[in-house]
Amino acid sequence: DVWTARVITLFPELFPGVLGASLTGKALKDGAWCLEPFDLRQHGIGRHRNVDDTPAGGGAGMVLRADVVDAALAAARGPGPVIYLSPRGAPFTQARAQALAAGPGVTLLCGRFEGVDQRVLDHHGIEEVSIGDYVLTGGEIAAMALIDATVRLLPGVLGNAASTEEESFSAGLLEHPQYTRPAEWQGRQIPEVLTSGNHAAVETWRREQAEELTRTRRPDLWARYLADHDND
Ligand code: ADE
Repeated sequence: DVWTARVITLFPELFPGVLGASLTGKALKDGAWCLEPFDLRQHGIGRHRNVDDTPAGGGAGMVLRADVVDAALAAARGPGPVIYLSPRGAPFTQARAQALAAGPGVTLLCGRFEGVDQRVLDHHGIEEVSIGDYVLTGGEIAAMALIDATVRLLPGVLGNAASTEEESFSAGLLEHPQYTRPAEWQGRQIPEVLTSGNHAAVETWRREQAEELTRTRRPDLWARYLADHDND
């Protein structure tokens, strides 16, 4: 059974979108994962297939109806968790991507407007996940980010298995800088150690660069890294 992302959205035509390109696109064509968009509109109410209504208590915008979302979930639900993409959710992390990649797939609910009626989230115990502290117009871009981060971790998808190994080796650190030819550009040289042929020295330099970048740019990640490695 191939890892499957089921996506409930008012804009099914947006998928696969960017996921159809590059590494994830090739893996999709090769059958290494599966993408199933579900049109929320198909579960809309009445001749106009209404999916939303005005917020109880007043205010701007529209709220997706609990009964409509419930019907879409019944049609879309597969193995694996259901996740509602929302800026109120728990932060999406590399660890979560790894956990999802180890499972059978995910069902993603994309909101629009002011959100989804809370009752349908509570009724199904649906988890909320955020891709960052900013507000997108809808959940589709967030869903694509979550799928991309997860699919590249599926066994056999990242053509170069060494890349994921290098990533997990330096887990929790920002990546060291990269260089390629030409050896000199705009008067700037490639750091000498990288052309020395001394692999141990290269590894030491890269580790130092990664640690220094993380310490200065992301003190939050650096604190966690130190806590996680305090017995090494
Ligand atoms: N929907 C709107 N903004 C979002 C965010 N930051 N993360 C996840 N889903 C969203």
